[in-house]
Amino acid sequence: MDFLDQIKDRARQLQNRIVLAEGTELRTLKATEIVLKEKLAKIILLGDPQIIKELTQKERIDISGAEIINPLTSSKRQQYAEMMVEIRKSKGLTIEEALKSLNNPLVFGPMMIKAGDADGEIAGAINATGDVLRPALQYVKTLPGVSVVSGVFFMLFKNKAIGDNGIMVFADCAVMPDPDEKQLAEIAVTTARTAKTIANIEPRVAMLSFSTKGSAKHALVDKVANATRIASEMAPELLIDGEMQLDAALVDEVGQLKAPGSKVAGRANILVFPGLEAANIGYKLVQRLAGATAIGPVLQGMAAPINDLSRGCSVNDIVDMIAITSNQAG
Ligand code: ACO
Repeated sequence: MDFLDQIKDRARQLQNRIVLAEGTELRTLKATEIVLKEKLAKIILLGDPQIIKELTQKERIDISGAEIINPLTSSKRQQYAEMMVEIRKSKGLTIEEALKSLNNPLVFGPMMIKAGDADGEIAGAINATGDVLRPALQYVKTLPGVSVVSGVFFMLFKNKAIGDNGIMVFADCAVMPDPDEKQLAEIAVTTARTAKTIANIEPRVAMLSFSTKGSAKHALVDKVANATRIASEMAPELLIDGEMQLDAALVDEVGQLKAPGSKVAGRANILVFPGLEAANIGYKLVQRLAGATAIGPVLQGMAAPINDLSRGCSVNDIVDMIAITSNQAG
């Protein structure tokens, strides 16, 4: 069974409640129809029920079975607003400001999760990454022991000799523009957990740089070497090594030459890039030039799964992300 089929099977068993914050968006409604038909998850759409009704009738989309909640009129507004004031009391948030913020489905969705009224959320088909992430970071926050939210891509290759049966995981391709060494270490450890949870990969993590084991001297090289050491302290059982160049991470002969004795060099299945620029460009290069399928970004480190779509996403991308989000919710 392929990667996505496995994820969908697990989602079907879990039957988690996934909030789609952009409930009046056409691709989102088409994805809802598919998800309900395939029984992948329970769906909660946020938006004006009248607009959703008109759109689904016009486009002949069957979303019966989905729950529709209007953030403007929901009976939960006062409860959520009080929770928001409590969470942001150090920032001086007032109840009036909280109630106004709840008009925004991108705030209402995370508050549903916080209150236990949903298990995961997806948005981003018509909203920028930052606008989806900010309320999630502010109200759902990070997992205990994790300080940084980051985003991975599952890179799927036709050649099953690559990575783990044709799957590699790249991080952080989506969130932290310039992680420091502690944050980079956390990203590595969290990515290994995500790879294991979602794809059942036994992680071999390469911490990428333009240097392998001190071949170059630079503050940027030190950052990756230190991050590798911190990550090993955080997760002593984890197979992780760095700093290393991409060829040392992937090609056995190069790995043996540049990092002799390494358990990761030449056989890495997780690539942790030193910063967002390299990671974001790197995954797109592999996607566009090597023809790999890129699944993500799958956000990790948040206390509950909230995922961001690309504005260019297809209906199927949304369906896949709903299944992945449900898997993360467990
Ligand atoms: N992990 C955990 N918490 C975070 C993180 C993080 N990575 N980043 C910010 N926060 C917290 C802050 O501590 C702050 O908390 P507080 O309000 O309780 O003090 C809150 O989130 C808001 O932080 P700001 O710094 O005010 O928010 P900012 O405007 O910087 O937004 C964001 C954060 C959205 C993640 C920003 O770093 C960003 O835009 N990153 C790049 C996203 C992007 O464009 N990615 C590429 C596109 S995606 C793709 O191509 C697949």
